[in-house]
Order: sequence, then C-alpha cells, then structure tokens
Amino acid sequence: MSMHMLSLSALSLDTPDIMSRNMEACCNSTENGLDFMSLLDAKPRPVNPIHTHKSFDERSLADLVTPALSPRPRTLETVKSSECLEGMLSPGRSSIGTPRSGQHSFEPHPMVADAWDNLRRSLVYFRGKPVGTIAAMDPTEETLNYNQVFVRDFVPSALAFLMNGESEIVKNFLLKALRLQAWEKRIDNFTLGEGAMPASFKVLHDPVRKNDTLRADFGESAIGRVAPVDSGFWWIILLRAYTKSTGDHSLADMPDCQRGMRLILSLCLAEGFDTFPTLLCADGCCMVDRRMGIYGYPIEIQALFFMSLRFAKTMLKPEGGGKEFIERIDKRLHALSYHIRGYFWLDFQQLNCIYRYKTEEYSHTAVNKFNVIPDSIPDWVFDFMPMRGGYFIGNVSPARMDFRWFLLGNCIAILSSLATPEQAVAIMDLIEERWQDLVGEMPLKISYPALEGHEWRIVTGCDPKNTRWSYHNGGSWPVLLWLLTAACIKTGRPQIARKAIELCEGRLSKDGWPEYYDGKLGRYVGKQARRFQTWSIAGYLVAKMMLEDPSHLGMISLEEDKAMKPLMTRSASWTC
Ligand code: GLC
Repeated sequence: MSMHMLSLSALSLDTPDIMSRNMEACCNSTENGLDFMSLLDAKPRPVNPIHTHKSFDERSLADLVTPALSPRPRTLETVKSSECLEGMLSPGRSSIGTPRSGQHSFEPHPMVADAWDNLRRSLVYFRGKPVGTIAAMDPTEETLNYNQVFVRDFVPSALAFLMNGESEIVKNFLLKALRLQAWEKRIDNFTLGEGAMPASFKVLHDPVRKNDTLRADFGESAIGRVAPVDSGFWWIILLRAYTKSTGDHSLADMPDCQRGMRLILSLCLAEGFDTFPTLLCADGCCMVDRRMGIYGYPIEIQALFFMSLRFAKTMLKPEGGGKEFIERIDKRLHALSYHIRGYFWLDFQQLNCIYRYKTEEYSHTAVNKFNVIPDSIPDWVFDFMPMRGGYFIGNVSPARMDFRWFLLGNCIAILSSLATPEQAVAIMDLIEERWQDLVGEMPLKISYPALEGHEWRIVTGCDPKNTRWSYHNGGSWPVLLWLLTAACIKTGRPQIARKAIELCEGRLSKDGWPEYYDGKLGRYVGKQARRFQTWSIAGYLVAKMMLEDPSHLGMISLEEDKAMKPLMTRSASWTC
C-alpha cells in the first residue's frame, strides 16, 4: 500500500466519525440541493468598477439558497447573517461553543470602515492612476523598503478591491508588473532570467518635471539579495482572480500577458539536474524573505507553484507556444501532486513510519527514499502530532525533512486542491486540535515551532529580527487571516474563520494594524513590527468579505482535478 494511502486509511480508521463528518462538510455540500463546489466555476457577473457598492455576484451562495435573505444589492457596510451560511456550507456542523454563537450580527464591525480608510490611504499612483498599495504607512518607524509596492503584499489588497467591484487598480497593477518583467535585471555582472517578476517597485515623483518614474527591485537591493520566486506565481494567481471576478478575459488574452505567463513558466519548468518535480530555491525567496532554513524545496513555493500552474492552464491560449506549455504543465502537475501529496504529508501514522525507517537503502525498492535518519526527527513533533489531523511539512530533500508547520503553504495547498479532500480535512483538523499553538491569541503563526538557541544561531545566522517566536520565526501575522478564512470556507468550516476573525477584532485596529505579533501565543505587538501594515488591513477585509459572500472563494480556489487521482497509487513494494 502506498505511504499516502496508508496514512489516510489510518486516519479514517482512527477517527471514523470525525472523518466522515468532516468529509461530508468538505465534499458533499449538495445537501439542500446546493453544490458548493460548482460555485467555484460559476461565471460571475461583471461588476461596475465605478460603483462603490460591493461586488454582488448573482450566484452568491446565500442567494442561491435563501434569496429572501438578501433581496437587494448590499452596500459594503451590510453584513449578512453568516450564521445561515454556516449551516448551508457545513451541514451537520454547529457553531455551538464558538464565541458569540447564537448571535446574529447585522451591524458592521467598526473596524471595517477603519480598514477601508487605511487601505485607501495606502494607494500608490503612477501618472495619476492607482497602481498598487504601499507596504506600510507607519509614521513612527523608519521606512526602509516598506514605502514600496510589494507584489505579494498587494495580493490581499487586490482581492479586497476586486470583491468590492473595483477592478481597475488590479488591472493597472498587473500591467505595471508586466512592464517591469520586461526590464533587464542585473545583479553585479549576472543577469536574472527573463521571466523574473520584481519583489517590489516604487514610484518616484519628480515635482519639478512633473513626471513619475518607476524603480523596481528584483532582488538586487533586497536584504540578502534573494530573488522573489513567489512574485511570478502571485502575478499569475492575481491575473486569474481578476479574470474570474470581472469576467473580463481580454486582459489575460492580451499577447503581452500571454507572453508574461510563458516567461514565468519557462523559468520554473526549465529542465536541469533535478530529480524531483519540486522547485529548488534559495533561502528567503518568498514571504519568509530572510534566512530561516527554508532553502531547498519550501512548501510555500511548491504550493504556489502548483496553484499557478493550474491557473495558468486555464488562461493560456494554444498560440505562440502556449500549447507546448499546456502539455508541460499537465506533466508537471501530475508529478508534483504525486510527490507532495506523498512525501510532504505527515500525520500520526506517517510519523510512526518515519520513526521506524531503515536507512542506507539502495535501489528503486527503497522505502526511505530520501535516506532520512530517524534520529533527525525533532522531539517536538512527537508531542505536537495529534491522532486526528495532518499537514504538509516545510521541506523535503535528501536526508532532510523540515517538520515545521507553515500556514501559507498548507492553505494554498487546500485552495489549489494540491491537498486531496482527505488531506484538506486533516489540515483543518490539525488547526482545531492545535489551536493554542497555531492560532493562539492573535492569528496566525507563520511557522511553528520557533527555532531557539543553537539551532537559531546556525539556521538563521544569528538573525536578531528572527529571534524565537518573533517575525518569521514563529511570529503571528494577521495577514494570514484571509488564507485561513478561504481554506475554512472551502472545507466547510466557516466557524473556525469566524473565531480567528473575532480574535483579530479584539485588538488589531486598537494596536494600529501591526505587521506581526510576538510570543508563543502571539500576545505582544512584534518587536520591530511596522504599524498600519497594509496587508494586515487588507487581509482582514478579505476575510470579512469572503465570509459574508463565500462565492468570492472562486477567485482563488480550484476544484480537485479528478484526472490526477489514479496516478496516486504507488508500487506494491511500498510498505512501512
Ligand atoms: C517583510 C516580509 C515580506 C513582505 C515585506 C513587506 O520583509 O517578510 O514578506 O513582503 O516585509 O511587507
């Protein structure tokens, strides 16, 4: 039996009730005559960009089921009874035990208006047009590079604008980033690949000449000089979100956009010395943009890679070499899902397997393919791993498994259906089971656990910003709320998202929208956290809007590709 099959079947053996209940919530939402997953493919009604009303998709989940509840277009401030949605999305689950259960809040939370004000204040203009949002507007801290538009930071802002029917800024941003991609990128005497997208860009205003110019950073100014591998992926993801939300295919169909996609794909689909389908990366190449021991095959990049391949496939046209890319994408997706679903997956059963691994096996019959030495399993994993639940670990490479939990990669794996429905359920189970560790008092831990002492010295290079339970090293990042909320909706557990949002609502605005929190429970405003961090603000708005109208999920989510399933069975020699 395959490792993958083994672990999943063990899961269901251990927890048959929970498993079947959760599976029902995740996959069988056709009760009440509603097929939730079909909403992901519903073509939204184009929204009027000038209108300030919220984008109101006529296929809104709530409307499909209870049209009487919301007969008129809502303004942004109107909050729908999400309790009703919960019942529809997650049949058989109740909100009993969650804070404010039983209460129906029709009043907008005051933080929503504050968030919109701050988000609008963060807009960056190029020759009169909005092209992005600045990373942070902290009046008290030195700006460093926080006065730039970061590609990854703009994603939640873009989603918030799209959900509010304001698509123009997203289009401007996508086109601007495309322009920058065409620049020649040099670091010292070396030139980066053509497809590389910038980590960030800045608009320089010349008041004398009354002209605006752009300056971009592809890694040549970044601390550590690392290129942002995630930027190209986020660009593709955003292009798909824009297309899905507006129904406007003309942007993605433009020859320049098609070329931009092909250039990104040729970078990440290039053939080389790889023996794995995963993408080999330098440390600090994504949201975790400092040395944190994520070099190799970080789950964040692998999940974003998988998602953007799937999204690119829906947008690529066969002309101009696109057909060849579509074929290469198909092959890579199969290989990637097989590799990640199997080798990155960890649950109680799988942990027990690795613990008993034999080493130094040679030939294709090896069980312990990467020659992982069981003694390298850190002690904390044995306590952390619940009987119910599982997750994709941080990294897998020869003789090295990074057992740390990373939220972004796991949520993207759920949204892109890189995780099988069973794995998606297990990830949500883990979050519930380890709520104190992974959510604590302020959502959400970027990684768990923190590196301390000697390990911190060796792995981070004594980074004073990444001390234990701070920043990337086990710090809590409010921006991640939107990803958790999306994953919760997809798996039919909006009550988890609601609980996390309520935690944020207790403090986030009062604390001035910090970039991150510190401490085991995320109780303290981060040591060097910027205030009025734009993606903390936008992440909250996206989470709120998505919960209010779950049909927004379709912008950043994909149903499982059934064609990938048969390839999951491994050779019969796989035992453990
Ligand atoms: C930090 C984060 C990075 C983010 C940047 C701007 O460097 O690690 O992910 O893009 O700040 O907010």
